[in-house]
Amino acid sequence: MPAFSATSPGKIILFGEHAVVYGEPAIAVPVFSTQAKAIVSARVQGKPGEIWIEAPDISLSAPLDQLDINHHLRAAIEIVIDDKDLDQVPSCKIQITSEMPPSSGLGSSAAISISLIRAFSAFLGIRLNDEKVSDLAYELEKIHHGTPSGIDNTVISHQKPVYYRKGKPFDFLEIGKEFLVLIVYSGIPGNTREAVEGVRDRWQNEPDRYNRIFSRIGEITQAAKEIIETGNPDQLGPMMNENHELLQEIGVSSPELDHLVSAASEAGALGAKLSGGGLGGHIIALVKSDADHISGKLIKKGAVSTLITPVKNRDFNR
Ligand code: MEV
Repeated sequence: MPAFSATSPGKIILFGEHAVVYGEPAIAVPVFSTQAKAIVSARVQGKPGEIWIEAPDISLSAPLDQLDINHHLRAAIEIVIDDKDLDQVPSCKIQITSEMPPSSGLGSSAAISISLIRAFSAFLGIRLNDEKVSDLAYELEKIHHGTPSGIDNTVISHQKPVYYRKGKPFDFLEIGKEFLVLIVYSGIPGNTREAVEGVRDRWQNEPDRYNRIFSRIGEITQAAKEIIETGNPDQLGPMMNENHELLQEIGVSSPELDHLVSAASEAGALGAKLSGGGLGGHIIALVKSDADHISGKLIKKGAVSTLITPVKNRDFNR
């Protein structure tokens, strides 16, 4: 029996993180230069129902049923079994690897879930469309992150730039002119659940102030959508800077992220902001042909690693 594999890209949020949890729009794009991969192969000598899971990144090699019931990897497999109400599945070995640092804002948990859902359902002969994959991954995101907006599972399952509003049909974004984003890793793990819960606590204490900030982030995101679609990406720089300042105001930045955002602008980026949950993780910077030069400067200023990603349309049928 052949092995079944699936890969999923990472993602960055260009505009609108956190405000998206409160109904404002956000823009996210896939990042294909970093991937999570799952491989499922039959175990000929295994008993029916026996599933072995190997995740070398976290030094895990164990039978699935020995993992905690809410363990990320176990939940991703069991959601497929439960969704189809299967009594038993053929014995198999599942390997999962990810190039993304966990808790770094790149959507590693959604990319891992989606790779597992896709590879395991293919192994079982079940065909799931992108929408269904996204819905299942959203259920898993709720286990890991509490009250996610759904943007990570949407952009990673569809693998295209999206303009997203919680609970509303999302739009694929047409990129009028390709542009470059430098993704810069602070080396400090973020914590999306903690960041989202912290914002919620502070919003409950000062609802008017926070609602004003969310709505300003929403306006920036809406304006950014039009600029991206009409092909004037250089204009996004100052908007990224303002979005970052608003994220600082709601308490999800950190001294290290602020330092990298300033260093990116000093090195010649057109604008920069944190991306994703914050409190650590990555910043993103809008760059032109000087991406390598800016990247070198940021590494000298303490960045742990950088990735350059083009933001462009991706039209293909899987
Ligand atoms: C996480 O990638 C983005 C947040 O807005 C949370 C969410 O949308 O679920 C911080």
